[in-house]
Amino acid sequence: MVYAHITGWGCAVPEKILTNADLEKMVDTSDAWIVERSGIRERRIAGEGESSATLGVRAAWRALEVAGVRPAEIDLIICATSSPEHIFPATACIIQDKLGASRAGAFDLSAACSGFIYAVHMAAQAIRSGALKTVLVVGAETLSRLTDWSDRNTCILFGDGAGAFVLQASRQPGGVLSAVLRADGSGADLLTVPAGGSRHPATLETVKAGMHYIHMDGREVFRFATRVMGSATQEAVAQAGLDLADVRWIVPHQANIRIIEAAARFLKLPLDRFIVNLERYGNTSTASIPLAVCEAVADGRIQPGDRLVLVGFGAGLTWGALVAEWSGPLAVQRRVRPGMYRLWAGLRSFLRRLARFFEGLVWGRKA
Ligand code: ACO
Repeated sequence: MVYAHITGWGCAVPEKILTNADLEKMVDTSDAWIVERSGIRERRIAGEGESSATLGVRAAWRALEVAGVRPAEIDLIICATSSPEHIFPATACIIQDKLGASRAGAFDLSAACSGFIYAVHMAAQAIRSGALKTVLVVGAETLSRLTDWSDRNTCILFGDGAGAFVLQASRQPGGVLSAVLRADGSGADLLTVPAGGSRHPATLETVKAGMHYIHMDGREVFRFATRVMGSATQEAVAQAGLDLADVRWIVPHQANIRIIEAAARFLKLPLDRFIVNLERYGNTSTASIPLAVCEAVADGRIQPGDRLVLVGFGAGLTWGALVAEWSGPLAVQRRVRPGMYRLWAGLRSFLRRLARFFEGLVWGRKA
């Protein structure tokens, strides 16, 4: 029997902080309103030169360092993101190149804010099937680039950041125990970036109409979220053959404190069983759950042996929950120094580009 353990974790956020007081100067809102309706006090915003891939790479290096995994040992990179670098190529491929993960396949997973849970489940299934040994899952976002900074309904909510997990095969029982993934596309129009895809290709008109920004029916999304968070948690816990009393921590998607409080009421659990950091980061979509996990591991709340439920919802509509037993790095540890591998990854990428250039010359002559 093979188990899929979470053996490495890392996160990265931009330095720039945007507070509610800053937002008061940009739109007709107030710190009191934002805190009361969402719980958010500040969020991080990507600076020039930062993007979903650069944040994802930083988080990934930390996760690899914790796991003691070299880039060449990664079999697959899944990047869950709602704000990819491009429609294609996949942001995961850009991360693969920057890591120098020479043996890895790479693809993006689009399930909005539920994406990290979907991706961890896919990684765990691939490992448990025996097909793969080491998978890197990244949740990376720069939602600030899709935000209409004149729309007070949305601009108060979102922030930028990235988180990453390394999952590895082990004969030791534990790791990812169960997951439920769900979708309801009848609510696709409730939360969407309408233009820029094949349905509404980007034109001057779509840009003028702001259709390349996030559009959201906040009230409907709120209602949906409060309905699914608790029930998905219960389903995933039951599927793992456990009871809620066996679970130490619930790590919810960090969208709105009122949604988390509603889930706590539904599950009849005190709020202190939930890991919450949305007041400092806002909603970072696929990055929100790994960011919360990383902080709780760093401050000692999450300990080896703890059972966690990761639970989230998002555009699609999508939602899901996953139960995992926190294990920490595998027993056999190797020291991985990102600095050295970063240099090698840069050189490798340069040499591959150079090789392609000369190949092109040779082919050109033949033709
Ligand atoms: N400042 C002040 N007033 C505001 C603001 C603001 N920033 N935003 C909206 N209002 C106004 C509204 O215009 C409305 O006024 P009206 O009644 O005159 O129309 C009033 O405040 C109340 O608005 P509601 O929408 O009812 O406020 P609500 O209590 O629902 O809170 C919020 C709004 C915070 C957006 C909430 O609905 C929410 O969190 N929804 C879920 C959103 C979410 O989680 N989205 C992300 C999903 S994950 C993903 O896939 C990216």
